[in-house]
Amino acid sequence: MKPLNSVISACPPSGIRRFFDIAAQRADVISLGVGEPDFVTPWRVREAGIYALEHGATTYTSNAGLPRLRELICAELSSRYQVDYAPDGECVITAGVSEGLDLALRVLLEPGEEVIVPEPCYVAYQPCVSFAGGVPVPVATHAEDGFRLRAQAIEAAVTERTKAVLIGSPANPTGAVQSREDLAALVELARRHDLYLVSDEIYDRLSYTAAHTCLPSLPGARERTVLLGGFSKAHAMTGWRVGYLCAPAPVAELCLRMHQYTMLCAPHVSQLAAVEALSAGGEDVAQMVADYDRRRRVFVKGLREIGLDCPEPGGAFYAFPSIRSSGLDSEAFAERLLHAEGVAVVPGNVFGAPGEGHIRCSYATALPLLEEALERMARFLRKGG
Ligand SMILES: Cc1ncc(COP(=O)(O)O)c(C=O)c1O
Repeated sequence: MKPLNSVISACPPSGIRRFFDIAAQRADVISLGVGEPDFVTPWRVREAGIYALEHGATTYTSNAGLPRLRELICAELSSRYQVDYAPDGECVITAGVSEGLDLALRVLLEPGEEVIVPEPCYVAYQPCVSFAGGVPVPVATHAEDGFRLRAQAIEAAVTERTKAVLIGSPANPTGAVQSREDLAALVELARRHDLYLVSDEIYDRLSYTAAHTCLPSLPGARERTVLLGGFSKAHAMTGWRVGYLCAPAPVAELCLRMHQYTMLCAPHVSQLAAVEALSAGGEDVAQMVADYDRRRRVFVKGLREIGLDCPEPGGAFYAFPSIRSSGLDSEAFAERLLHAEGVAVVPGNVFGAPGEGHIRCSYATALPLLEEALERMARFLRKGG
């Protein structure tokens, strides 16, 4: 047979899945591995989905998505972050942020153009750049520096082939929240070098230590930014597959053109459920966020008490402690912890080289389980790992 696509063949399978598969085979495992809310979608949203099905919402919607949903998203961005997008022409409803990321990169990139990707980062960023024909250029951020995005470090990686910078704040896997000042410095550098910015803000509502800065709300940013947002995390809607992409009209139009041929539309029922989530789900989100914050504080304190250095995660639902004191590398630590104590975490190296020496623990898990996981981890460390 002729060889299959070389770019996809060269891409290793996700390092996160491997640990899920091992964990799934054991009943006693506490999983801190999944990047997914442990809450089910709030009842009012599920009910809206059921109602939508009962009333026959089983068809395609317009390619860009239901006008009502686009209006609600744009109104929310305007009132929350003072950034204005036209529901018609600058907003596309996507099948999750995942599809939005793919669309954005394919529309922005010519073959061989470079995208700067600060690491550690979400596992899909670099593969999606490669699948779109681009070249990911990793730039390290560091735990000792709170995983801050330093414009200087990013600028040092700019070449004449650089087309864009792809960032996520709050971040997976570090929980880092970038400050307004650091983001403004990034925008300034993007302006100087005429770069696009792709801003994955899927965790915008899960910001605990500072108000979220929406990148395109910064002066000079909107015209060069593709904003990605979604419902999976804050609304506990991972399985519904609904998100959005907002960008200036020329970019959004091309994203819509691709989406029109490759996806047609995001699931109709999910779009109606998302309408309910945005119009009436505020209290549910606030409760879940308060719960994550409570778990965050208990868990991070617990990690530090058992001797693991943990940078303060200001957002998302991940802690990214250092495991260097154990003398193990992150793969060995995660593997041994799983086998010895039945706690599943993700080795930091799957998020890029600067993630080595860390593990990602999701605290989207009930508090008693987090406490039990901490006890097991303490025992594991006492025994020398
Ligand atoms: C940073 C980040 N972006 C995007 C996604 C995927 O989001 P969606 O479910 O909207 O496709 C995830 C999921 O873990 C994520 O952590």
